[in-house]
Amino acid sequence: MTRRWLHGVECGAKRFARGNCLNKWRVKSLDSILATAEKKSLTRSLGAFQLTMLGIGGIIGTGIFVLTAEAAQLAGPGMLISFVLSALVCGLAALCYAELAAMVPVSGSAYTYSYATFGEVLAWIVGWALVLEYAVAASAVAVGWSGYMVGVLDNFAGIKLPAELVTGPYAGGIINLPAVVIALAVTWLLVIGTKESATVNSVLVTVKVAALAAFIFLAVPAATADKFTPFLPLGATGAIGAASIIFFAFVGFDAVSTAAEETKDPQRNIPIGLIASLAICTVFYMLVGAGVIGSYGAQPVFGAGGEALQPGSPELVAQCKSIIDDGLKMPVVCSNEALAHVLRSIGYPGIGNVLGLAAGFALPSVVLMMMFAQTRVFFVMSRDGLLPGMLSKVHPKYGTPHVVTIITGLGVAISAAFFPVGQLASVSNGGTLCAFFFVSLAIMTLRRTDPDRRRVFRTPAVWIVAPLAAAGCLLLFGFLSFVAQMVFFGWAAIGLVFYFIYGRSRSNVARGITVVGELDPGVPPQGVPPLPGIHTPGGKDA
Ligand code: ALA
Repeated sequence: MTRRWLHGVECGAKRFARGNCLNKWRVKSLDSILATAEKKSLTRSLGAFQLTMLGIGGIIGTGIFVLTAEAAQLAGPGMLISFVLSALVCGLAALCYAELAAMVPVSGSAYTYSYATFGEVLAWIVGWALVLEYAVAASAVAVGWSGYMVGVLDNFAGIKLPAELVTGPYAGGIINLPAVVIALAVTWLLVIGTKESATVNSVLVTVKVAALAAFIFLAVPAATADKFTPFLPLGATGAIGAASIIFFAFVGFDAVSTAAEETKDPQRNIPIGLIASLAICTVFYMLVGAGVIGSYGAQPVFGAGGEALQPGSPELVAQCKSIIDDGLKMPVVCSNEALAHVLRSIGYPGIGNVLGLAAGFALPSVVLMMMFAQTRVFFVMSRDGLLPGMLSKVHPKYGTPHVVTIITGLGVAISAAFFPVGQLASVSNGGTLCAFFFVSLAIMTLRRTDPDRRRVFRTPAVWIVAPLAAAGCLLLFGFLSFVAQMVFFGWAAIGLVFYFIYGRSRSNVARGITVVGELDPGVPPQGVPPLPGIHTPGGKDA
């Protein structure tokens, strides 16, 4: 076939300019995307409150509980600026997400918007990058949780797990077994159903919000102004570098949009869920950051020669060890449980331990949200024919995409077993920034190519907000570690090879398959389980 048709309309240059037809870039029409979602949707059970809780569940996690120490090492008290910068980039991106998610309330998030805007290849790259964002983030949080749980078991029950079984080879261990266990447990929750998962999530969110509130309540009143100087011990670049890491603490709100197909009244509820969850978390983070700095101090640790030390580096570990061995006050940047450490040190040891327990109890909600989002992205990519069709199978009893959930869970468990939290978080940020970047471009493009489409939520000042969001993503990406940047580009290259070997020839768009309402049993999609409502256009041009 040399020429394909969509909705029986020839793809001429004029139509392409309006984004309405299939073309050499394989842009997928929004009508087709929406119709596909209607025809094969998951159970709609989530409301605005549950979505906001899911958003907060995705946002508050390892970033604030564990990576605050890494941000302090890079920026000192100036990490407050890092929080603001990351929140700003996320807030601008959230405004873009809100318009798109309300306009295209289907699973798939940035991947789906890119498909409708830039076509299949870029959509594939974005979907592939979302694996870094969601699955790798889930692994990072599982590893962060493992660290807290090891401390909790020790502090509360006197149980010391063998060192070889609680860290990967990067720290002299064999496998991070607690991280594997939590990843598999969350997989099970997701297989048995979204509603159950969201309910469990709501309880866990309440616990961690209470833990942060207690921290703020105790630490902020203890703050003194002298702890804020020097404010930028490593200069402005230190603060931007810290922002590229602490960005991880804000990631997760966008996962709300991947639940679009399971949301009641998505046009109203998705924007509420996105923006409310991000705004609430930003307020909490600023207060927690001020509490850490003001009550305890957050100056970086320097090497013996006064040189800056990278977070997680053996040099920093050695320097921290010598400070502790000398019986000096342990800097917050040396702690694996920064917030609990601060509370213990400012006179609340019991509450510090309980905060550690709360974090250990609640961090799984973040693993859950990230894996939830990942499975939905895979589900949609599979439904589009870019991944094997068996992945979009829905469980007959639970109504969840169980095959893809189990595969995702195994992947998350394996990376959590063998890699350190900081590295996983940075790699995840690379994928997230890529997705945010393309969402920012997509919203501007769609305003031009599809101006008449009903937009229930319109991003305010879009021609300022979206370019700033895109620029912010580029800035933070530029400050990621070299390793994280290389993993991103390597992952994208692997993805492109897979796309050209597998997806390019099998995608529904390539085969002219779209949804126009009625199932045409005469034209089953190849390699894809029969999907209600899918046929090749008229069956005439194939
Ligand atoms: N924002 C999430 C966290 O900090 C990913 O754990």
